[in-house]
Amino acid sequence: MNEQVPVTDTATAVKAVPTLPDAQTVTEVKHWTDRLFSFRVTRPASLRFRSGEFVMIGLMGDVMPNGKQKPLLRAYSIASPSWDEELEFYSIKVPDGPLTSRLQHIQVGDEIILRPKPVGTLVHDALLPGKRLYFFSTGTGFAPFASLLREPETYENYDEVIITHTCREVGELEYGRKLIEDLKADEMMQELIGVENLNKIRYYPTTTREQSPKMGRITDLIKSGELFADLGIPALNPETDRGMVCGSLAFNNDIKDILEEAGLNEGANSEPGEFVIEKAFVGEGV
Ligand code: FAD
Ligand code: A2P
Repeated sequence: MNEQVPVTDTATAVKAVPTLPDAQTVTEVKHWTDRLFSFRVTRPASLRFRSGEFVMIGLMGDVMPNGKQKPLLRAYSIASPSWDEELEFYSIKVPDGPLTSRLQHIQVGDEIILRPKPVGTLVHDALLPGKRLYFFSTGTGFAPFASLLREPETYENYDEVIITHTCREVGELEYGRKLIEDLKADEMMQELIGVENLNKIRYYPTTTREQSPKMGRITDLIKSGELFADLGIPALNPETDRGMVCGSLAFNNDIKDILEEAGLNEGANSEPGEFVIEKAFVGEGV
């Protein structure tokens, strides 16, 4: 673990630590709701990643009784695509969360720590080609798909890219809704990805605790067949359909059961399959 002597504000401090380890500078911060915000940071020149992967980011922790400070790091999906010159993150604000109770206050010009070691299962290499690609997300589980939706490779192997996002309230859908709207309207993205490819996106937002045009858990909408009826497509089929899943553990488990029941097999980087899963966070007691 990297440890370092902290910057202190006492008169006895002779020399400040010049910067955080693996420091990156915040370039943009947007607050979406009282529970959600996104931010962008500079990208280390050496950082290469595959769209959909996550990294460890954080801030320096409190000063310990021995006077030292340790970095306080958490896993975060990179929400920007692999070609972007900056890095974007989409974050929860947990009121008493060790990291996000402080991270939510970052401002442009501040520094965060970013360990440049990307990993993850939500990558194209882990999926077999198919006709339809489903991205199933809840809450901040949208983040890896914010990256993948802006990645040209996403559209190469599929005729349709279906992104479902389920949140408790309408305001929690706004980051994803705006991202998709901007993506389709942006001339640079039209050129990079192709208008015909952007037309493959089918966005399916749902809410569970506030009125919206489509209410309900996506798991229930799949089981009832409503999702397929709404989109005018056949039910899940291992011959044609591929899935990426990112949400709470309970959500991931429920979707996994549904996909397996439909005959899809889980894939991995080492052995591509018909769906892949990643937790959007580690829940209480897990
Ligand atoms: P923690 O002590 O880490 O968490 C406290 C509690 O808050 C948890 O027990 C859980 O109940 C709840 N919680 C934590 N994260 C979330 C969340 N995202 N949504 C809802 N409830 C949550 N978080 C993000 O905000 N954006 C991401 O892109 C992201 N990517 C992740 C990728 C992976 C692979 C994993 C394992 C986690 C990811 N997380 C993400 C969660 C993140 O690592 C932290 O848990 C989160 O930033 C809260 O940190 P904390 O120290 O404030 O609270
Ligand atoms: P619900 O409101 O019915 O619990 P959370 O904020 O708890 O992470 O939930 C985000 C969204 O995911 C909510 O709309 C929630 O619906 C939904 N959700 C939570 N657990 C599941 C699950 N096991 N299956 C399907 N949807 C879920």
